[in-house]
Amino acid sequence: MPDLHFTSAAPTLEERDAVDACIAGREGERSLLLPVLHAINDRVGWIGEGALNYACERLSVAPAEAFGVATFYSMFSIKPRSPEVLHVCDDIACRCAGAERLCRDLEEANVAFTRSPCLGLCDRAPAALYAHAGPSPVHKQIAPASLETLRSSSDGVTAAPHIGGSTIRLLQRVSSGDPESLDDYRSRGGYQALRKAFELGAQRAIEETIASNLLGRGGAAFPTGRKMQAVAAQAAQPHYLVCNADESEPGTFKDRVLMERDPFAVIEAMTIAAFAAGCERGFIYVRGEYPLAAHRLQTAIDAARAQDLLGRDILASGFSFDVEIRRGAGAYICGEETALFNSIEGKRGEPRSKPPFPVEIGLFGKPTLINNVETLANLPHIVLHGGAAFAAVGTKGSAGTRLFCLSGTVRRPGLYEVAHGTTLGEVVDMAGGVPDGRTLQAILLGGAAGSFVGPAALAMPLTFEDARAAEATLGSGVVMLFDDSIDLTDIVKRVARFFREESCGQCVPCRVGTVRQDEALERLAQRVTPDDIALLNDIGRAMRDASICGLGQTAANAIASAATLRVFPTEATT
Ligand SMILES: Cc1cc2nc3c(=O)[nH]c(=O)nc-3n(C[C@H](O)[C@H](O)[C@H](O)COP(=O)(O)O)c2cc1C
Ligand code: SF4
Repeated sequence: MPDLHFTSAAPTLEERDAVDACIAGREGERSLLLPVLHAINDRVGWIGEGALNYACERLSVAPAEAFGVATFYSMFSIKPRSPEVLHVCDDIACRCAGAERLCRDLEEANVAFTRSPCLGLCDRAPAALYAHAGPSPVHKQIAPASLETLRSSSDGVTAAPHIGGSTIRLLQRVSSGDPESLDDYRSRGGYQALRKAFELGAQRAIEETIASNLLGRGGAAFPTGRKMQAVAAQAAQPHYLVCNADESEPGTFKDRVLMERDPFAVIEAMTIAAFAAGCERGFIYVRGEYPLAAHRLQTAIDAARAQDLLGRDILASGFSFDVEIRRGAGAYICGEETALFNSIEGKRGEPRSKPPFPVEIGLFGKPTLINNVETLANLPHIVLHGGAAFAAVGTKGSAGTRLFCLSGTVRRPGLYEVAHGTTLGEVVDMAGGVPDGRTLQAILLGGAAGSFVGPAALAMPLTFEDARAAEATLGSGVVMLFDDSIDLTDIVKRVARFFREESCGQCVPCRVGTVRQDEALERLAQRVTPDDIALLNDIGRAMRDASICGLGQTAANAIASAATLRVFPTEATT
């Protein structure tokens, strides 16, 4: 397909229909490009030249740019393919649960599939995602996946266990009730916090959030109240609120559980944040691999609009706010906040250089408050009970509770909510530890961008400050266990391949470094040489120091920590 000019290729009737239905009167809005590409892909299974031409005409986008966007995301294809696509996760948690065996079984049974990075279903590994394009497209998460569940088209879903004792806050509603019913949500305290926020006023809501010492749960641990205040103080208008629900860090599934099981709470929390920071429009960017979460959120948004809880003059408060869902399309980098803005704007999801920071120049060049789902989900509690009550749980440096995603070789994988300061060993015990007869080899803490720690770290309190002191990170709350049956070399190689495949390629240290790192690990897995160990250290330093964004800056962390645990011996064994 030529990538610079329109060609004579015309859309088919169904492609035209898909584009028209998605644009629905919003002609020329480039930020509809991603939804339009989804609409074509969902209808036909791939994005043809005629369809892309038509989308470009209607949205006033240059074909070269639309081509660049369509080819950026792994869930889209610009080549003809079957309307049925099966994505099978072969990432780390699923590897521990037999993903390679599943892939072999599928190959032997002549079932077409594509390998996928983490699908965020690690609590029910191994996982798959099935898509069937057509007038009523189907997207289905299948976990645990096996030849049988895939053939029977059962979704294999079982509830994720959750524990938190008396400190449970965020998971209160996830295991009971109807997540699609606004009445049910209200009967269990829903929307009291928004009313309270209106009573307090925006400035008090910000002050309570500052007093709560809430730190962002998306990985960077930035104080939420300060970010809110910075956006509220900006003279430029309008202000935007973005909820980052891209959750693609391997091993992470906490935001998915919140969105699937308590979607109204996410929408209420977004409304409170928007009120505090003076935002009239919000987006929730949900990773493309989470169809159930997107469906439940859309149901919640529609119900909230119908009941005067979104839209103009909410509850006669004088405050107006509305939310749109944006579905990601398979790109880990779009979780990085500025890449996410570009993605919403209909551009390639490549990170921007910072500064300027989003609070000043964010989405559409305007002041933007961007927060993780779990971060926002804490706001109703803060507003209702006050910042001091929130900060009374946890430690001085790490207020409140935290969601941890337990997976890997652990007896009761799932989502656990505990107060900050609970030790790693206590959380591991809640989940039952490694299976009987096995011993713990290592734990991946914080995700692929985090680090491996050994059993000695079980005594570590789970706080930002203790993790930092141990040169680790809580990251996105991943706690993935590996017992002595797991080949850690294979796991580390999968982490390296993940970064190689997910680098957006914009800057040299990351683009080249992630490839060289992967190659060095392949060699090390065969034969350890001091040269390759030294090369890994050099690459890691260069990526950390000179990459534009957090992906390149953290791509060597897990690998370096694995070397410390002597996954690869440091001496030559030639
Ligand atoms: C490569 C990369 C991926 C990221 N993915 C996510 C993500 O999926 N969800 C998220 O909330 N933050 C993610 N972040 C962090 C965001 O850039 C940003 O810090 C966060 O959304 C801010 O919200 P918080 O202050 O509530 O943590 C990612 C960062 C990087 C560098
Ligand atoms: S560090 Fe990697 S992911 Fe980030 S901008 Fe550079 S190439 Fe892209």
